[in-house]
Amino acid sequence: MKIKILFICLGNICRSPAAEGVMQRLVEERGIDNRFEIDSAGTYSGHQGQLPDPRMRRHASRRGYNLTHRARPITMSDLDYFDIIVAMDESNRRTIARMCATLEQEKKIVMMGDYIVKLRAHYDYVPDPYYEGAEGFEIALDLLEDACKNLFDDIIKQTKITTI
Ligand code: 4NP
Repeated sequence: MKIKILFICLGNICRSPAAEGVMQRLVEERGIDNRFEIDSAGTYSGHQGQLPDPRMRRHASRRGYNLTHRARPITMSDLDYFDIIVAMDESNRRTIARMCATLEQEKKIVMMGDYIVKLRAHYDYVPDPYYEGAEGFEIALDLLEDACKNLFDDIIKQTKITTI
């Protein structure tokens, strides 16, 4: 059975599709992409169908990520389908938690910020870069690369999957 991870932000055009791309590359590099299903969604549907923000695509592509996700809003069925639902900030977490009908669904929600280690002194969540300049996108990617790596290690430890 695949481990299904859903990354959530507000618009699903900056942080969460980037997180999806970062995590996808990690599982590919470790030769276990067949064991994972990785997706992203937003709590706001206004950008539905759009590719990630051109600024995020540009900054991510400089680090070798090709982001091709199409934005979509989170649905009730996502709460059952996915095993781990990763919120970028507290506002995202609250919105998802309100959608949950069962404790089992609510227990799937984790905070991306809990996996930030390197920039922990400055950030305990992934700030929204949408209204920021270039630096905001670089910080978001720095945080996502760090947090995805730590989330990945945690999953590997818990599931005892063998990696290369
Ligand atoms: P994201 O960034 O949540 O990281 O995708 C945003 C994208 C769009 C908006 C806000 C944040 N917006 O207000 O349209």
